[in-house]
Amino acid sequence: MEASIMDGTKRRCGVVSGVSTVKNPISLARLVMEKSPHSYLGFSGAEEFAREQGVEIEENEYFITPDNVGMLKLAKESNTIMFDYRIPTAENEKSPLKMNGLPMSAYAPETVGCVVVDSEGRCAAATSTGGLMNKMSGRIGDSSIIGAGTYACEVCGVSCTGEGEAIIRGTLAREVAAVMEYKGFGLQEAVDFVIKHRLDEGQAGLIAVSSKGEVAYGYNCNGMFRGVATQDGLKEVGIWK
Ligand code: GLY
Repeated sequence: MEASIMDGTKRRCGVVSGVSTVKNPISLARLVMEKSPHSYLGFSGAEEFAREQGVEIEENEYFITPDNVGMLKLAKESNTIMFDYRIPTAENEKSPLKMNGLPMSAYAPETVGCVVVDSEGRCAAATSTGGLMNKMSGRIGDSSIIGAGTYACEVCGVSCTGEGEAIIRGTLAREVAAVMEYKGFGLQEAVDFVIKHRLDEGQAGLIAVSSKGEVAYGYNCNGMFRGVATQDGLKEVGIWK
């Protein structure tokens, strides 16, 4: 598992990669930001820091669910690596209750992201993931790369999901902030621009907030699980376009 968090006001961040016993990797990422002199800890060093900090630890078995065992079997049998929200197939288009060709009941998205803005316009972003189904040992994805899967600054907070390799190549999260800063785009305009021009053949999506309190999302695949809640009581969830 890996996770990253960024506080946009101070541009502080904390990241962990390669943890396999930490119950909530995002909490460990926050401790890296707040309690270590570093920004990024990985593998045995991150596990050691977790124990030093007394975060909740689980045996490896805790993370092995029947859903994930089933998904891994499918991935191994077809010799593929499974990404979040891949392949908008003709079949998927016809059958909205399938995601990536799999029944929704069997589908397990790998990544959870969260972006927030407070009443003073301070933005933050966080992303946590198990990575990709059937990934190589040692593979690190976008979720633990600041600027790729996670970014927050004075203007916005962004968290991405999808094919990590494409998100890394496109430095997707930072690009949203960059076009706002350098082109003067609004949040949704920046998100649309980045999804259209900074993603190559990869399938991905992102959620974003701006310091003005705007909320936006975008993706180039057939669906993305998402939700929004505001202080005014707005609560919405969505999957499809
Ligand atoms: N976006 C999750 C990953 O590629 O690891």
